[in-house]
Amino acid sequence: MDICAVVMAAGDGKRMKSSHSKVVHQVAGKPIVKWVYDALCEAGCGEQVYIVGDKQEEIRDVLGEGVAYVFQEQRLGTGHAVRQAEPFLEGRGGYVIVLPGDSPMVSAETINKALSRMKEGDYAAIVITASAEDPTGYGRVVRDDNGNVLKIVEHRDCSEEELKIKEINSSMYVFKTPLLLSALGRLSASNAQKEYYLTDTIGILIKDGGTVGSIICDYEDTLGVNDRYQLMQANKIMNKRILRKHMMNGVEIVDEDSTWIHSAVEIGRDTIILPGTTIMGNTIIGEDCIIGENTRLESVQVGSGTTIDYSVASEAVIGSNCRIGPFSHIRPGTLLKDNVTIGAYVEVKASEIDEYTRARHLTYIGDSKVGKNVIFGAGTVTCNYDGVEKVGCTIEDNVFVGGNANILASVVLGHDSYIAAGSTINQDVPALGLGIARSMQKNKENWVADRNRLRGANYIKLDTRRSEV
Ligand code: UD1
Ligand code: MG
Repeated sequence: MDICAVVMAAGDGKRMKSSHSKVVHQVAGKPIVKWVYDALCEAGCGEQVYIVGDKQEEIRDVLGEGVAYVFQEQRLGTGHAVRQAEPFLEGRGGYVIVLPGDSPMVSAETINKALSRMKEGDYAAIVITASAEDPTGYGRVVRDDNGNVLKIVEHRDCSEEELKIKEINSSMYVFKTPLLLSALGRLSASNAQKEYYLTDTIGILIKDGGTVGSIICDYEDTLGVNDRYQLMQANKIMNKRILRKHMMNGVEIVDEDSTWIHSAVEIGRDTIILPGTTIMGNTIIGEDCIIGENTRLESVQVGSGTTIDYSVASEAVIGSNCRIGPFSHIRPGTLLKDNVTIGAYVEVKASEIDEYTRARHLTYIGDSKVGKNVIFGAGTVTCNYDGVEKVGCTIEDNVFVGGNANILASVVLGHDSYIAAGSTINQDVPALGLGIARSMQKNKENWVADRNRLRGANYIKLDTRRSEV
């Protein structure tokens, strides 16, 4: 059987009020049109043609060159859009699946159901419909007394009676290809929007004596994204589905309302996701981790047994049994091996940190290579910018860095060395040595009494205003 698909994706998307094509807006981290493409591929339909408009580059960037594109110069409606695919459809028998590019919830299951229904009887077309609690804006499916589809009427063209119909057109169809071609040639634009409606092909096929069947889906599976509110709704529905899938796979999710997980994310069993957590991009998390609360991970790889608490990490690799947070920032290009501890107000950028190393408080490590079992005292800073370029330092195994030390660009701290607290280290420190770089302390005996500066019980009085002390 010759089966191909036409996806309408050239619309201006006026209701989105965006400078971008409507169909590249993301739902659960994936462009809307990519959801459609993936559903078609999963349903086994590899031959796809996309009707694109002025923003076609954005769509081509998403889908690549594995599909065909047809440019619709003027946006004269969905019927006009599909007509642009005529050269692609002419001479073909079999079925054509027609989908809107703005319906991310479409699934392979729905497409396959429509194809099976088509094969069951002698149908000219199958319309996929749904019952909407609020059908505003959708085309309505008008049926005769026997329940057969008669026509589809767009919201703006509906009579009072038709407006009451709750069954909506999803804009997803399967047609017999030659019959679709014959109906497309007979569309007119005599309607409220002065557009060529694809929906009118249904009435034409029935007038021709054909039968149009339908399958009724869940409203959520047909949701079209036309404005930002529907985009939010689609994200919410898709997110709940993704969370459910992870829960069924053994991931514990404490609060589905405040947890957001993108479609490509993978999570191992017995990992717990605490509230307020967003997991984005191609993040992969191992087993037995605790992530959150209030954490954002974007394209991060996390080993098993790691905890990440109130932190932000992106494009980084975090090993197994690491302790991250609270309030850590792990930036792109970072590689943390196993059993590393990164604590409060610690930022790591493009650095490699080996096993069992600990930076528990107030530290910045940038562009550096750090060995095993290193300890960073509070307030350590790698001064990785020499004013011209970013160059980190090298800290070998078992180094102890005292509090508030600055390690300048390119410096090498040899293995098992100590750095005295408060030092600014601008030269290499030899292995097993001590690096100290601070002025000697002087104590002045009785200085306070001599200067009459005793503070005693001179407490500061609190002001009644909250902002003042
Ligand atoms: C369409 C249907 C409506 C259905 C709804 C479901 C028509 C006339 N109406 O309305 O019955 O209930 O979808 O979501 O078909 N497009 C083009 N070129 C154009 C116009 C549109 O490629 O000239 C594309 C758009 O990019 C979009 C799709 O076709 O992806 C549907 O167009 P849209 O304007 O969103 O139609 P709806 O008003 O949603
Ligand atoms: Mg739409």
